[in-house]
Amino acid sequence: MTFTKVCTLIDIPEDRGLNVKDGDLSVAVFKIGREVYATQDLCSHGLWSLSEIGYLEGDRIVCSLHMGKFCVQSGRVKSLPPRQPLKTYPTLIKGEDVYIDFDGVLIGE
Ligand code: FES
Repeated sequence: MTFTKVCTLIDIPEDRGLNVKDGDLSVAVFKIGREVYATQDLCSHGLWSLSEIGYLEGDRIVCSLHMGKFCVQSGRVKSLPPRQPLKTYPTLIKGEDVYIDFDGVLIGE
């Protein structure tokens, strides 16, 4: 596992995602309290950026384009129309710094 520092906790909005990139890979980072979760940035339904048009409703990411919902921890679909889960990435917090393992992609797990 190789964790890369991407931001600090204060950089992540309370109810929305923060977009971070690793080369061509675009990831949305969400925060619930002091827990941090990372998913692919593009909604699996219409390929819109979840860090731009998505928001958190409890532990669900809501895509405001068609109101699809995903579990922020697992990426699983919680409300249609999306049918494909989001890829998720392991995260780590050290002090106030947030790290992502971009190589540790998980799909709906
Ligand atoms: Fe996200 Fe349709 S683009 S639910």
